[in-house]
Amino acid sequence: MSTSTYPIAARRTQPGGIEPPPVHVAVIMDGNGRWAAARHLPRIAGHREGARAVRRTIEAAIRQGVEWLTIYAFSSENWRRPADEVLDLTGLLRQYLRTEIAELKASGVRLRFIGDRCRFDNGIQSDLRDAERHTTHNSRLNLTIALSYGARAEIVEAARAAAAAIRDGLLDPAKFDEQVFAGFLATAEMPDPDLIIRTSGERRLSNFLLWQAAYAELVFLDVLWPDFKAEHFAAALTEFARRERRFGARPG
Ligand code: IPE
Ligand code: IPE
Ligand code: MG
Repeated sequence: MSTSTYPIAARRTQPGGIEPPPVHVAVIMDGNGRWAAARHLPRIAGHREGARAVRRTIEAAIRQGVEWLTIYAFSSENWRRPADEVLDLTGLLRQYLRTEIAELKASGVRLRFIGDRCRFDNGIQSDLRDAERHTTHNSRLNLTIALSYGARAEIVEAARAAAAAIRDGLLDPAKFDEQVFAGFLATAEMPDPDLIIRTSGERRLSNFLLWQAAYAELVFLDVLWPDFKAEHFAAALTEFARRERRFGARPG
């Protein structure tokens, strides 16, 4: 168990008034299916193009000095999609892990995965473990990929683990506070997201980082995920810089 090391207001205006980039950007990549449909292509073509957009986003995040990037790739609810699409998506994930990890490792990216990985086959689970292990000493960009992830399930799991710790006498209920609880979440060692970007024009969180998003700035873009480029990432960061974050306090 560990707790977030970042204070809630991690951002400070630098000398000269230049806003630093958000520490942690999270992305709900959406619109692959619509991108494919608009081209009369099968949905898998949209997902494949979406994987290229992931690569561009990682590059953009590194270039912009973002330290943490979290990408929502597959939700716990996405298992409800037709079996052939689930098979296509898990196949693409397997391929992505086999082809991209070496390069991510060489670029200084540290990989983490959050979500219920037990639902994937043993081959994928072992690839996920390897990717985390092989990049554990990297620090240029902390990339977290949410796979089979659902925030409500994450919160319930954390509550269950906390209850067990209390039952076993390892945790004093009187000392159980927000920070302690956050230490039981899958994101225990991560700062909360400062900015959450969702593409495709949908304006919802779809069960993504519900606890962690308490004070995140939300930016919804009309671009479909396969068309997402560095300029869209930059535009979201510009919008973020314009926002006044108050964290419940009075504007300064
Ligand atoms: C996002 O694209 C990728 C996943 C959710 C896996 P979608 O597949 O949701 O695409 P749309 O929303 O149907 O266009
Ligand atoms: C959210 O997209 C999940 C991911 C991006 C992985 P969905 O397309 O599954 O969300 P809904 O169904 O539109 O809410
Ligand atoms: Mg969608």
